[in-house]
Amino acid sequence: MTNTKTRIMLTGASGQIGTELLKILRRAHGDSLVVATDIQPLSDPALRESGPFELCDVTRRDRIMEVARKYDVGTIYHMAAILSATGEKNPQLAWNININGTYNVLETARELALSRIFIPSSIAAFGPETPRENTPQETILRPKTMYGVTKVAGELLADYYVRRFNVDVRGCRFPGIISHETLPGGGTTDYAVAIFYEAVKNRRYTCFLREDSRLPMMYMPDCLKSVTELMAADFGRLRHHTDFNLAAMSFTPAELAAEIKVHIPDFAVDYKPDFRQAIADSWPTSIDDSAARKEWGWNPAYDLKGMVKDMLDVLSRRHAEGRLNY
Ligand code: SER
Repeated sequence: MTNTKTRIMLTGASGQIGTELLKILRRAHGDSLVVATDIQPLSDPALRESGPFELCDVTRRDRIMEVARKYDVGTIYHMAAILSATGEKNPQLAWNININGTYNVLETARELALSRIFIPSSIAAFGPETPRENTPQETILRPKTMYGVTKVAGELLADYYVRRFNVDVRGCRFPGIISHETLPGGGTTDYAVAIFYEAVKNRRYTCFLREDSRLPMMYMPDCLKSVTELMAADFGRLRHHTDFNLAAMSFTPAELAAEIKVHIPDFAVDYKPDFRQAIADSWPTSIDDSAARKEWGWNPAYDLKGMVKDMLDVLSRRHAEGRLNY
């Protein structure tokens, strides 16, 4: 039995995806129906004013339950997580937040009979034994990062809740997400955001990955589109639930730099790979997303050229207005 409650709760609302997801959820469902939560208050005053907010540490199940009950929540988007690079610096923290956070959200969904849950996974679920090119939907999942370990466990656990407790959980394996509203925090793909800010501001960037490190990436509008479309899909038509492969584009730092140079000809990049190189080397270079295309019509809008043009338009305008904040 699921309920018909219409209120939505979002964890990790201050994060890179959370901030933008909050905006589109409030626009789509009404400001007062979307409860933003995070371990820190929202920094954007407009978002702070636009609807309800609660402090919520996802490692505390009682607090998640309390917020869900208080607002009569029906749906949770669980975006709070520690990413790959921070996870390698502090594996215990990554385990605690990612594993216990996911478990607590799933238990809340089961106990309160919530109607729908979104829990993202990541390309970090794959590892060096996985076929790296056009990585299949069904494949070897032996990640070598703590972040990846928690993502595989999260996929399996969420899938267990679908089959065992009939909880409607959905999720996809996000590639690196590129955006211009909130900076990513602690990921291996973060270079693909930082490079734009440095290009606009200083015309120089020192990249922490090798120039030939090809990784799957996606522009934020496609990321938001994938969440919205997967959450709206007919559950009965889904064969997969919590682990959809998603693709949009794949590129190396050198290819990204070359595309930025089309717009900023004097842009220069040098390369000083650090510990994140080993993480990148353990991930796929491209992804087969045919299951998502078939089961719920996934079709990304942005390729490398379109994404680079849009990112530079937005950030150059902001820089000219003295509002780059980087
Ligand atoms: N962007 C994430 C990271 O780099 C991948 O999911 O950790």
